[in-house]
Amino acid sequence: MLRRLHKDQPETFAFTPANQAWAEAQVTKYPEGRQASAIIPLLWRAQEQEGWLSRPAIEHVADMLGLAYIRALEVATFYFMFQLQPVGAVAHIQICGTTSCMICGAEDLVAVCRDKIASRPHVISEDGKLSWEEVECLGACANAPMAQIGKDYYEDLTTERFAEMLDQFRAGEVPVPGPQNGRFTSEPLGGVTSLTDAAGSKDEAANGSVALAHRIGDTIKRIDGTEVPLVAPWGRANQADDDPEVAARDPMMGPSGPDGKQAGRVRGQADAPRTRGDASDGRANVRGSDATAKAKPEAGTVAPEPEGRPAAGIAKTHETPTVTGTTDTDGMPAGTQTAAESTATADPGTKPATMDAPKSTGADDLKRIRGVGPKLEKMLNGMGFWHFDQIAAWSDREIAWVDGNLEGFKGRARRDEWVKQARVLAEGGETEFSSRQT
Ligand code: FES
Repeated sequence: MLRRLHKDQPETFAFTPANQAWAEAQVTKYPEGRQASAIIPLLWRAQEQEGWLSRPAIEHVADMLGLAYIRALEVATFYFMFQLQPVGAVAHIQICGTTSCMICGAEDLVAVCRDKIASRPHVISEDGKLSWEEVECLGACANAPMAQIGKDYYEDLTTERFAEMLDQFRAGEVPVPGPQNGRFTSEPLGGVTSLTDAAGSKDEAANGSVALAHRIGDTIKRIDGTEVPLVAPWGRANQADDDPEVAARDPMMGPSGPDGKQAGRVRGQADAPRTRGDASDGRANVRGSDATAKAKPEAGTVAPEPEGRPAAGIAKTHETPTVTGTTDTDGMPAGTQTAAESTATADPGTKPATMDAPKSTGADDLKRIRGVGPKLEKMLNGMGFWHFDQIAAWSDREIAWVDGNLEGFKGRARRDEWVKQARVLAEGGETEFSSRQT
């Protein structure tokens, strides 16, 4: 299937404050120079928040990581876990249509989707609650046929049970994930016939993944960052072990079994970014690490943005390329300059007034300007810009100077209208973007 950005895009995207703190702390999990590798969890959180990934959301994540937009687009459009168009308000159903599931009845499940949701995939049902698509193998072949709904797997499905589940979702219920025919994990339906003295079905109602899903209860929830107070595995030794309250909130830490052993972490979404002192100090950590984030591209990593070029596909909607040629290694036509970049390089401009340090009241949070992420804020501070009123005062020629000196992000100040936004913020007002952050 062709995976394209949706034709109707929102104007802006912003993480909720809690999700922003989460995202910034997430970045600190990666070694210096490898922060770009945080792209998957950040895109995923954006989708958890909004239900799907819009162009502004992808760009926001790219900005946070200092990536060319094309890099983030490559990731977002490659993995079908990322939804590039609006989905049902309650749930998006992904039916596995690969061999095992197909043999065991996936086509019948698709027929149920056509009947009860919409005749075509990626079309939202009339009541706005559900949408569906067919996907490739989800790795639960032993429990075919199956579907991923929200973040969890529903396995061993029959058409009757599946139809009933859709009714439950519509009614606001969340069926317990896992096998729907009563068996434990992928054991034989009649129970195990070997290793019968090992821990398993006789001791627990569900496997670790299902138990965790049930405990967290976020299968189909939109996440604003306050609902799932998880602790990262590497943070637990420092934080949760010292803090019984944190331990109690952590699905990995509790509840302990009768033998004192902790439940196992199974699901990917439990891989949360809490660090010591997070989330309040997560931002500070990101800024600190950002100083060395000018990473050399290395094999196996997503390379940082070398020239700050917007993605080729996005240039059409943002700016008109002024020169075209062959394609370079970033997927951008070689020699292509956006209009803003062209302006930035054609006119050296005039350097605006700068400050050696912020005022005694402290620096403004320049990230409240749309288009300014942690990396650009750091760059602006390094140039001597700390406050909205400084940016608000830039003349046209001063914007040109700034744009020409934003290494890796040339042209962003004019393109994203920083001055216009800064004027509002300097007077204590809110822009549409900043109001979504408070
Ligand atoms: S074939 Fe459906 S999960 Fe593998």
